[in-house]
Amino acid sequence: MSGSASGTRSIPTLIDREHRSAIRTRLSDRLRVLLGSPKHSCFAFILSGTHKLGLWLGIFTNDGDSDTRIASGRHPANGSVPEELATPPLAWYCSADMILDLNQLDPKAIYALMIQSIVPRPIAWVLSDNGDHSYNLAPFSYFNGVSSKPPILSLSIGKKRDGSKKDTWVNIEKRKHFVVHIAQCQQAQSVSASAASLPFGSSEITANELETAGVTGWNLPRLAEAKIAMWCQLHQIVEVGDTPQALVLGRIEQLYLNDDFAQDGLGPIPKIDLDRLDPLARLGGDDYSALGDSFTVSRPA
Ligand SMILES: Cc1cc2nc3c(=O)[nH]c(=O)nc-3n(C[C@H](O)[C@H](O)[C@H](O)COP(=O)(O)O)c2cc1C
Repeated sequence: MSGSASGTRSIPTLIDREHRSAIRTRLSDRLRVLLGSPKHSCFAFILSGTHKLGLWLGIFTNDGDSDTRIASGRHPANGSVPEELATPPLAWYCSADMILDLNQLDPKAIYALMIQSIVPRPIAWVLSDNGDHSYNLAPFSYFNGVSSKPPILSLSIGKKRDGSKKDTWVNIEKRKHFVVHIAQCQQAQSVSASAASLPFGSSEITANELETAGVTGWNLPRLAEAKIAMWCQLHQIVEVGDTPQALVLGRIEQLYLNDDFAQDGLGPIPKIDLDRLDPLARLGGDDYSALGDSFTVSRPA
């Protein structure tokens, strides 16, 4: 930590694991020397995100049953700590754990936290109908199964930067049908490319030189290279939050499974060869992952 002219001490604004551990070691050592007594305990916890660090600092004396706070303060959340809180005789301890209050964070920080915490997420690679015999394609990782009877899946679709609904939302709302493909690791580049914001009506399928194939009985094509595709009818759109975000519930009418990926399973239901399928998962930011090793854990009776 270095001093500054304003009487504050700089602390790293980005408290990564290494910094937190260094701060903790340094402060615990200082604390032991300064307080040297089990009668005192100290705490500090981080209130806001990594870029705007907010700390509550406190020193307690433990007298009998009661704790008496002898010092505390909230630093101004700009990466600096008032001099008097950072120098002896006051010492502080920085916990390695973080409690992040989502009510105090802005939506961008919340989004960053959620997409790094709710991992790995499957990716719905969604083909929707532009209404002029062209098709829109975009990936969505706020995606999951909801129920089996009826077979419902969910997508959560936000708005564009200009505040208008994303094209997939518009298409599903208007035409009530869409196709969800399960993206594979080898398709990661195309998946990412299909997230480009093209003008409404321009097809990410054409732009990315992807092919479509017809499926008997479907009124929409599937991506030709997809090994799993689900033809869905709109069940419901629930608008969530202030933005709002569209929680799209789709009823899966038919599931296409490429024969090469279907192994013998139980009765007529095939076992899907997940090793070969190699499904793509999304993590935070621009990071993706593959399945890794799978293992079996039997459930209690
Ligand atoms: C892997 C990946 C996952 C994404 N997941 C979502 C999501 O769950 N919800 C969302 O609104 N946007 C998500 N996006 C961003 C959309 O794909 C992007 O806004 C796209 O341009 C929307 O296309 P559209 O306007 O043609 O519907 C994701 C992007 C990527 C690359």
